[in-house]
Amino acid sequence: MKQPDGFADLARYYDPIMDHVDYDRWFVITSALAEFAPDEFTHLDAGCGTGVLMGMLRRIGWNSLGVDLSLSMLRTARKRRGDLPLAVADLRALPFHREVHLLTCLFDSMNFLLREEDVEQALYSMSSALTGDGILYFDVVTERMVTEHFDGRDWEEDNPGFRTYWKSRYNRISSISETSVRINTGGMAMIRERIYPLSFLEEAVHKAGMALLAVYDADTWKPPTKRTTRVDFIAKRVVTAADERQFKEIREHVLRCLY
Ligand SMILES: C[S@@+](CC[C@H](N)C(=O)[O-])C[C@H]1O[C@@H](n2cnc3c(N)ncnc32)[C@H](O)[C@@H]1O
Repeated sequence: MKQPDGFADLARYYDPIMDHVDYDRWFVITSALAEFAPDEFTHLDAGCGTGVLMGMLRRIGWNSLGVDLSLSMLRTARKRRGDLPLAVADLRALPFHREVHLLTCLFDSMNFLLREEDVEQALYSMSSALTGDGILYFDVVTERMVTEHFDGRDWEEDNPGFRTYWKSRYNRISSISETSVRINTGGMAMIRERIYPLSFLEEAVHKAGMALLAVYDADTWKPPTKRTTRVDFIAKRVVTAADERQFKEIREHVLRCLY
């Protein structure tokens, strides 16, 4: 059955709305992780949205592939960033098998999966897409992000040429945050994200046949604390002692560049 495209009315406004977002951080970490990949490698951005990260990587010569469930997000990516290799695909059923050297799934795309089994299926699908030596980098937002910055708030934002009206509510029982965005031109979107305990995500990574290299607070690249609002996960199908040494160097590079 065809699912409704939750981003249909939002997609063409997405980039100006997200203009303040620090994509440089994802760019620095993603490009650093390519140290693990062979000289010629395949990068897949899963849940690529409007292709902001892909566009940045293209500028350093990468020809990344992008998939997303939302056709309207992919159409906007094409319109804004030209001829990117894009396809509609679900995180839970990626159309790749042992082909991807570096897989990213960022800006809380994983939180859009609303059932535990969806997350497990997505991680299994990502693990299957990776080559034996492939690496996965995904992130999630925490309950702290939602309760601190969004829950119970109604607010408006001015953007060039349009205004957005936001309303956000978090249900602590279902762990689902619902944020509605209305655009003054008439468009409307409902963004639903589920918050998952880190212990569940760590276990799901292992169940999907991968081992973790890092679970870090995105703002410090140190272990998460109760103040953490976003968490970066880095996993490989197999983690050797050499991988751990290499990752230590990558982490030092990232810390030098970002923190
Ligand atoms: C917050 S946006 C992030 C987009 C992009 N990664 C970025 O950094 O701008 C979340 C994206 O996840 C996509 N998404 C949600 N559920 C998905 C699924 N099951 N399969 C593939 N993409 C999905 C949405 O369509 C949306 O483009």
